[in-house]
Amino acid sequence: MANQSGGGGSIESVLVENRVFPPPKEFASRAQISSLDQYEQLWDRARAEPEAFWGELANELITWIRPFSTVLEWTPPHAKWFLGGTLNVAANCVDRHAEGPRADKPALIWVGEPGDERTISYKELKDEVSKFANVLKGLGVKKGDVVALYMPMVPELAIACLACARLGAPHTVVFGGFSSEALAGRIQDCSAKVLVTADGGYRRGKVVPLKANADGAVDHCPTIESVVVLKRTDDDVPMVEGRDRWWHDLAASASADCPAEPMDSEDTLFILYTSGSTGKPKGIQHTTAGYLLGTAYTTKVVFDLKEDDVYFCTADIGWITGHSYLVYGPLANGVTSVMYEGAPNFPDEARFWKIIEDHKVTILYTAPTAIRAFMKWGKQFPKRHDLSSLRLLGTVGEPINPEAWIWYNEVIGGGRCPIVDTWWQTETGAIMISPLPGATPTRPGSATRPLPGIVPEVLDHDGNPVPDGHGGLLAITQPWPSMLRTLWGDDDRYRQTYWSMFPGRYFTGDGARKDADGNFWIMGRVDDVLNVSGHRLSTMEIESALVSHPAVAEAAVVGKPDDLKGQAVAAFVTLESGQDPTDALKKALAAHVVKEIGALARPDVIRFTESLPKTRSGKIMRRLLRDVAAGVESTGDTTTLEDLSVLAQLRQGDEG
Ligand code: WTA
Repeated sequence: MANQSGGGGSIESVLVENRVFPPPKEFASRAQISSLDQYEQLWDRARAEPEAFWGELANELITWIRPFSTVLEWTPPHAKWFLGGTLNVAANCVDRHAEGPRADKPALIWVGEPGDERTISYKELKDEVSKFANVLKGLGVKKGDVVALYMPMVPELAIACLACARLGAPHTVVFGGFSSEALAGRIQDCSAKVLVTADGGYRRGKVVPLKANADGAVDHCPTIESVVVLKRTDDDVPMVEGRDRWWHDLAASASADCPAEPMDSEDTLFILYTSGSTGKPKGIQHTTAGYLLGTAYTTKVVFDLKEDDVYFCTADIGWITGHSYLVYGPLANGVTSVMYEGAPNFPDEARFWKIIEDHKVTILYTAPTAIRAFMKWGKQFPKRHDLSSLRLLGTVGEPINPEAWIWYNEVIGGGRCPIVDTWWQTETGAIMISPLPGATPTRPGSATRPLPGIVPEVLDHDGNPVPDGHGGLLAITQPWPSMLRTLWGDDDRYRQTYWSMFPGRYFTGDGARKDADGNFWIMGRVDDVLNVSGHRLSTMEIESALVSHPAVAEAAVVGKPDDLKGQAVAAFVTLESGQDPTDALKKALAAHVVKEIGALARPDVIRFTESLPKTRSGKIMRRLLRDVAAGVESTGDTTTLEDLSVLAQLRQGDEG
């Protein structure tokens, strides 16, 4: 396999891990799925009768306007689910809870970074969503028009998503950490008509200038007709006459009555851009019914939801985890979802623990990179707070190293909370491989078993299953409702990226190993996608950013194992002749990447080199660069290397 070292330094320890943690008895006795036998029966049943399985779930979990007539139409690589049915996702997430016993139940509990808080009941959420849907309508947004959201983590971001869903206008949320350039690229790709943003947002005590960034983007986006600006920080921001309007002005006169648009099952709910192995981000397209079912079902069973749960997902809505497990999944189930605006270490390193104590959080869902940071900061921060309300912990985004798993279990979970290590992707829409907390024995570092309805396999390059215990490529062999339908405007790339490796089967881009008990151990990406602090970045996208700087002739970017981030960004750069390889230039190049993409893509290490190692046909040998960056000897074949002295030179070079 090309690169099995993609997931960072935790791989080796993952491979030798063999501790097993059965579900705590008390937890299992109250769980929806409460034994391994029960799980296996469900899985086998779903495998044998997938359409009956998904069809029954769709009737149980979704409120339909018109029932569907066909569960699945599968013409690989295109699936259509629940044909003939109509529904509205916002009505499922909000309206059906806004009357009856959940009307006054908190839908969202929001904590702002400066310390302001808001609790919004389901009844109130319905009014807010309806008002903003009317605001968008007033700006000419109709079913099918794309609305871009570039906002801080405030309730209005969730409200805007749901307002779009109410109208049938696909949203595309762009993470607030992306730059003007990155925002513009995404808006141009999906021809968004309206942009919703804010004056700014708070992050680690500072203001992120969202409106200024948005202005820089909209100048290059002729499709944007209106910009709606939420007042969050009260900073003075210029408003463009005729284009920009304040959220509060528009909402003040909007009616709280807005009928939910009946949508076909296969209508687009949203587009979310993510990094692939080429320079251009991919617009992952998700649909109404399948996505709603996938998120509602998995939130219910993976987090074993109870009516009184207070559920805290720490992801930003700018990423798929925030879409699926802060907004759609929890709200579809009518639970209380906690949303926090800012950094985990502001005003101090106990911020999450304070939120958990203050709001009696019962379920925490976060990322391994955050857990490693908490470990580094020390036990004294969680110890300051009462975490006894917690009953279940989850992780997502990258392989978790057993040390972090054990710390999470002991220090945060007090040894009594099962941990669900959930494997999935922007493309899969919902969790695919994960323990069921009342049923599955957990193993630190393994996402364990596929959920009922999901059929993964570990394959070799020819598409044959590899024997248990051996590494291979992770594929999903049966369609599932929340799978991406295509890439926005680029079906060829969709076919190429996911379906050409194993025709008829979905290729995930991850390496994995299955053990003799059927547990999956995810080994990280085997393509040119990096996973930096749980954020997906494309090496090619960073390379394109670097070579767009006039001093740069050529650039190669690889991941370097990092104890905290999982992977760090290492860039090897050759300069145009006449350019001096100075530290000042390194700084300028790093700043240039931040401007082109955003701070999350800032290279941790930049190394100037005379040339890059290439094959005789001119391909950069990234495998060798990964070894150089990691400071390890290359064990692989170097016979195709054009000039061996390049490698020797790189090995001698200083890091910096
Ligand atoms: C990685 C995030 C190991 C994997 C939901 C995948 C994981 C990529 C896990 C998707 C996990 C996600 N264990 N690796 N539990 N969860 N990954 O699209 O490499 O931002 O392909 O979706 O994250 O990242 P994405």
